[in-house]
Amino acid sequence: MNSVFQLVCPLCGAPLAADGKQCVCPQKHSFDFARQGYLHLLPVQQKHSLHPGDTKEMLMARRRFLDKGYYEPIGQQVADAICRYAPSKAPVIADIGCGEGYYTAMLRQRCHASCIGIDIAKDGVRMACSRDKSILWLVATASSLPLQSASLQAVTAMFSLFQPEEYARVLQQNGIVAEVTVGSRHLTELKEIIYDTVFPQEKHPAPCGEAFRELQCQEQEYHISLLNQDLQSLLMMTPHFWRIRQERREELMQTTALELTVHYYLRVLQKK
Ligand SMILES: C[S@@+](CC[C@H](N)C(=O)[O-])C[C@H]1O[C@@H](n2cnc3c(N)ncnc32)[C@H](O)[C@@H]1O
Repeated sequence: MNSVFQLVCPLCGAPLAADGKQCVCPQKHSFDFARQGYLHLLPVQQKHSLHPGDTKEMLMARRRFLDKGYYEPIGQQVADAICRYAPSKAPVIADIGCGEGYYTAMLRQRCHASCIGIDIAKDGVRMACSRDKSILWLVATASSLPLQSASLQAVTAMFSLFQPEEYARVLQQNGIVAEVTVGSRHLTELKEIIYDTVFPQEKHPAPCGEAFRELQCQEQEYHISLLNQDLQSLLMMTPHFWRIRQERREELMQTTALELTVHYYLRVLQKK
């Protein structure tokens, strides 16, 4: 394990040291690296269900969709923001809610970074291992990160969670959070097929909290044209999949192509 990664024991908070195929703390709590290479640092008391986070089907659909490159401009903008604002040219980044690892792998390559990918869904982390073996992949929760305080230069939260206190704890001074959240027009054409009425809903990033200053918050919009199979993958990777009625799903099955709006906010916060 790369020595820039400073882990703490999820049970007692003491530093974890890599010891061959496991990590151990001074209290002798030990955690084995899985065969695929990830560490499971999510104690049962931090799990809110048997299989927390996205399901395997959602994660597989996400991988099929993301690998087509439709959201590549988003990853590139986040990489650019990190290169511009992170307080180091070779930052240590934790990507929180990394899913199956698409953005984590892109950020490691494009930011000359050392990366930690963290997700509460074990299936996601397991899949992510195949993307890049030099990334440290962890099953853990964003609300209690198994990372030492002030050990990171950047945190990314791509369509995932914003935990200001915990992100402030693990970042060094002037460290940054790069966060992507959906805007009100995101995938609106898809929602119009799924629901009888789509209520216009203002969506803005959550307040950034006392520990951070906002460096930028850009509203972005572009359009993508999807063929049917990519449309099915997109539907499956979102919670809309569980809400769609059968006749609407059939309608979507018959749709050969659809033009969609991608609308999001990219916000960069700096720890004071
Ligand atoms: C919408 S997905 C985004 C995944 C990835 N960032 C991407 O854009 O492809 C949100 C991710 O957050 C994860 N997640 C949900 N709750 C979490 C928590 N408490 N801690 C860490 N990850 C969590 C889910 O398992 C899921 O993979």
